[in-house]
Amino acid sequence: MSRIGERLQRLIAASGPICVAHYMAEANAHYYATRDPFGAGGDFTTAPEISQMFGELIGLWLADLWDRAGRPLGARYVELGPGRGTLAADALRAILKAELEPPVELVETSPALRRAQAERLPQAAWHNDIAALPEDGPILAVANEFFDAVPARQLVATEAGWRERLVACEGGRFVPVAGNPIPSEAIPPALQGLRAGEILETSPAAGAIVRQLARRIIMHGGAALIVDYGHVRTGVGDTLQAVSAHDYADPWIEPGERDLTVHVDFEALAAAARDQGARVHGPVPQGQWLQAMGIDLRASALSRASPEQARAIAAARARLVAPDQMGELFKVMALTSPDWPEPAGFQ
Ligand SMILES: C[S@@+](CC[C@H](N)C(=O)[O-])C[C@H]1O[C@@H](n2cnc3c(N)ncnc32)[C@H](O)[C@@H]1O
Repeated sequence: MSRIGERLQRLIAASGPICVAHYMAEANAHYYATRDPFGAGGDFTTAPEISQMFGELIGLWLADLWDRAGRPLGARYVELGPGRGTLAADALRAILKAELEPPVELVETSPALRRAQAERLPQAAWHNDIAALPEDGPILAVANEFFDAVPARQLVATEAGWRERLVACEGGRFVPVAGNPIPSEAIPPALQGLRAGEILETSPAAGAIVRQLARRIIMHGGAALIVDYGHVRTGVGDTLQAVSAHDYADPWIEPGERDLTVHVDFEALAAAARDQGARVHGPVPQGQWLQAMGIDLRASALSRASPEQARAIAAARARLVAPDQMGELFKVMALTSPDWPEPAGFQ
């Protein structure tokens, strides 16, 4: 069993089963703190690691919006969970073309990834959470594949009503079990009375982060672009998954040694942002958004500049936009200040 697994086993033996969000938080904190999981030799590959086009188009989106908002002073580039810093480096190159060189504020808890980010972004400042950001200036914020790693609770429908899904340890193995009853008011009306065994996922932590982002945008202006895989409407289903060496793995073994994620509930995130007064755009499929932002033109320009790379560029473009690859499953949603103009890519 992994080191975190042994710790959780002792905790469960001492004080009983823990909730799924607790299990996910401990596992992911250890996982990200101890490695660089990206690329062919790692566990998974994210969009910015596939092609520079992804980060460049995000940078262009932010710069265009900032420009049409009247080029307000003091804007800060903010990224949640910046991985290796690749997206930020590509986005900032595009932003610089608009003659904006914003301070770079990275929200990252992993010491290993902070070191990787510092190599590409020596000018950056780091924060453990969004509440620690400097309090002035509009934000130009990005979160790619961040919210899927934020801990989520799972609620399970039983014959006796909804229950919190807990993680127990039986015979040295982690197993999900039905725990404390959940008051029926906590369940959306459309999902009351489902079949026993159905799972509803909810992430109070993700909602709290979006509320903070939205509050910040309302107070000082700005925009945030959220890209992740997930569903447009709140629904039922167990989406907790682990990925290891580019393959699906069992989320209930070796916590801390594999990435645990859930599909992002965009409807819940949108509601949290609107609740604070932010405007919400999308979500739209990633492929549609990248095409609206001009990925085809950018791919042609890059291929003309490096003809020997044309096949690789075409393959990367297809991976990002094709509906059977990342184009449909991944969604793009934006939050903006009500005083800022209509963002590109969502018409
Ligand atoms: C799947 S990676 C995405 C990386 C990057 N955005 C990309 O697209 O390549 C998740 C990132 O979020 C960070 N992270 C995970 N949980 C976090 C938390 N609670 N607070 C801050 N960063 C977190 C990880 O360390 C990592 O940088």
